[in-house]
Amino acid sequence: MFRLPRRPHAIIALFFCAMGMLPAKQLTAQSSNKKIAAKPISPDLFGVFFEDISYSADGGLYGELVQNRSFEYNPGDMDAWSSKRNNWNTFTAWSYTNRGYGYGNISLETTAPIHPNNPHYLVINVEEAGKEGVGLTNHGFDGIAVKKDARYNFSVFIRQVSDNAIPFTIKLLGAKGDTLAMAAFSTNSRSWKKYSVSLTAAATDDSCSIAVLAQSTGKFAIDMVSLFPQASFKNRENGLRADLALAIANLQPKFMRFPGGCLVHGDGLGNMYRWKNTIGPLEERIDQKNIWNYHQSAGLGYYEYFQFCEDIGAKPLPVLAAGVSCQNSGGTWRTGSNGQKAIPMAEMDAWIQDALDLIEWANGPVSSVWGAKRAAAGHPQPFGLQYVGIGNEDKMTAEFNERFTMMYNTLKAKHPEITLVGTVGPFPAGEDYELGWKLANQLKVPVVDEHYYEKPDWFLKNNKRYDRYDRKKSKVYVGEYASRGNTLLNALTEAAYMTSLERNGDIVQMASYAPLLANVNHISWSPDLVYFNNSTLALSANYFVQQLFSVNQGSLYFDNIVSLKNSEQFTDSALAASVVKQAGTGDIILKIVNAGPKNATALADLSALHILAGKAEMTILTGSPSQLNTIAAPGVVQPVVFTIQVQKNFRYQVPAYSLTVISIKSRKQ
Ligand code: AHR
Repeated sequence: MFRLPRRPHAIIALFFCAMGMLPAKQLTAQSSNKKIAAKPISPDLFGVFFEDISYSADGGLYGELVQNRSFEYNPGDMDAWSSKRNNWNTFTAWSYTNRGYGYGNISLETTAPIHPNNPHYLVINVEEAGKEGVGLTNHGFDGIAVKKDARYNFSVFIRQVSDNAIPFTIKLLGAKGDTLAMAAFSTNSRSWKKYSVSLTAAATDDSCSIAVLAQSTGKFAIDMVSLFPQASFKNRENGLRADLALAIANLQPKFMRFPGGCLVHGDGLGNMYRWKNTIGPLEERIDQKNIWNYHQSAGLGYYEYFQFCEDIGAKPLPVLAAGVSCQNSGGTWRTGSNGQKAIPMAEMDAWIQDALDLIEWANGPVSSVWGAKRAAAGHPQPFGLQYVGIGNEDKMTAEFNERFTMMYNTLKAKHPEITLVGTVGPFPAGEDYELGWKLANQLKVPVVDEHYYEKPDWFLKNNKRYDRYDRKKSKVYVGEYASRGNTLLNALTEAAYMTSLERNGDIVQMASYAPLLANVNHISWSPDLVYFNNSTLALSANYFVQQLFSVNQGSLYFDNIVSLKNSEQFTDSALAASVVKQAGTGDIILKIVNAGPKNATALADLSALHILAGKAEMTILTGSPSQLNTIAAPGVVQPVVFTIQVQKNFRYQVPAYSLTVISIKSRKQ
C-alpha cells in the first residue's frame, strides 16, 4: 500500500513557518454560533474510469508479457493513415529464431485452429534443429521487464503435425541475449494441448525476450504463447500487473467504469465492444482492433474487470454501446462529418438480449444460463452489479434516440433493481448536451453521464455548475473530466472543482477523472492520471488530488463552516473548500483549496459540528504551479502528512497553490 510521507511533530512548526502558515497549535480561535445545513453525499461519488487507451490494458494493466500471443494482429488494427501501418502484421513482436545454425520453415495457417474465434496460428517445420533449436522469439511490449528471483508462468498451445514427440526449450533472454531462465518440456499430442512451465529470472532486466525453441526435427503448430508474472495483483491467474493495480486500488474508488470511453461504441459497427467475446477460456475469446489504433486481446475481459472491482471494493459500472457506433468512426473526426453507424433495427432485439444476458451473467443464480458461465469461470457468487451505462457521449441522432429508448425501456422493465446511466454528449454544453438532457428528461433516466476536458480556468469558473441543477431531474455522473494537464496547477483546479462535486453530492452521483492509465511509449490521449513504462510508474499530481478526495469522501456535506478570503476579498474563484462527515467513522474532514498565487485565509467554525478540540491529521499537497511528476522524476509533487491540534474555531493561513485536507477524528463532546 502506498503510504503518504508522514512528518514528525517537531518538524511541523518549521514547515509552517517556511510556508508562511501559523503553527498548528496557534490556529487562531474564532467564536460564532452559525446554523449549518447538512446535505447527503452519494456513497458512490468518487470512482475511476478505465479504458484500454494508451496501452492501458494490453501492455499495461493486463499482466500478459507476450505481445501478439495468438498471432491475430493484422494491418486493419491500425488506421490507414497511421505511419506504423506497414509494420503491423501477424508477426508483430515476433522473430524467427535459429541461433545455432538450425533451419526449417514457418507458415501462417488457419485450417485447424484451437478455436474458430482464434483462427491464426503458426506451423513450423524443423528440418535441422542445430545447436540451440529452431523456433520463435517474442519481444513483448517494447521488451519484457523481469525482476531478479521473480517467478514467471509460461504456457503455450502446441499441436504435433509430425508423429514424433518434440522436445522444447523455453528461454528467457536478457537484453544482451544472455539466458536469464530456462525450462523444458516435450510434446505428446497430435491435438492442440497446453504446456506450462515456470521460470525464475536470474537478473533484473527491462528489455528481455522469450524464446520457444524446438530441439529436434519435426513439424508442429503453435498458438497462445504466454508469459505472466506469478506475482500478479492478488496472485490471480491471468492476472493484473501488481503495481498498476495497486495504484488504482489505493485510490479507494467507490466504482470502476469500463471498458471505455470510445472503445465501447467502437470504430464502426464491427468494432463495437461485445462483452460476450471477452469471457471464457482465453483461447476462445475474440481479439479485435482497438479504436485507439492498436490491437486488443480481450485477455482483460469482463470476468477480469468484475473480479478486479470486487478485489478493490469498487462497484462495477460496465458501459454498453447504445446500438450506435462512435460518431468519429472511419476517421470522420478529421473532416467533422458524422460517422455514427446504427445497428439495423432487425438486430436490436439481439443487441438488447446481450445486455440482459450481462445482468444475468453478473447477478443471476448458478442455475441460470449465464450465471452458470460466471460460476464455471470461478465465481459462483453473484457480482452484485448495480449500475449499467448505456451509450458513451454519442451524437444525439434520431437513430441514437430510437435505439437508446428501446434499450433503456427494456432494461428498466426487466431489471428495475439496476440503475441505468444515460449519456448527454461529449461536451459540457451544446447541441448533444441539450438533446441528451431532453431525452433523459423524457425517459426519466436516473443518471446521465457528462464529459468535459477543459482548461484549468474552466474548472474554477464553473464551480457553481451543479448548484444550479434541478434536483428533480436526473442525477449526474461526471464520467470523464480533466483540466488538460498534469501540473500541480491543473490538479488544484480539479481539486477546487471536486469540492463543488461534494457540495452537490446530492445530485452528482458519481465522478471519475479520465483517462486513468497511459504507457509512456504509446500515449493516445493526455493528460492521464498514472503514467507507466514496463517497469515503473509515476503518479501525477492529479492522482494525489483524486486520492485525497476519494479516501476522504464524506457521506454528509456541511455548508457554512469555512469561509475563505484572499488578501483583498472573499470572492476568489481560485479558493474553494468543503466540509464533510464520513459515514462509519464520524470523522469531520475539511478540504481547502487555494489554486491561486497568494496565500489566503480560511476561517473555520466547527462549533455546530459538536466536535472536541484535539489532534487531527493534516495533509498538504503544494509546490510551484508548473511542477509535475514524470517517470524520470516521480516524486516532485507529493502530499505530506502532519499531526496537528485543532480547536472548534480557527483561522488557517492557506498556502498559495495548495490543497489541504484536515481530518478530525470523531470525539463526542
Ligand atoms: O478519455 C478519452 C476519450 O475521451 C474517451 O474514450 C471518450 O469517451 C472521450 O472522448
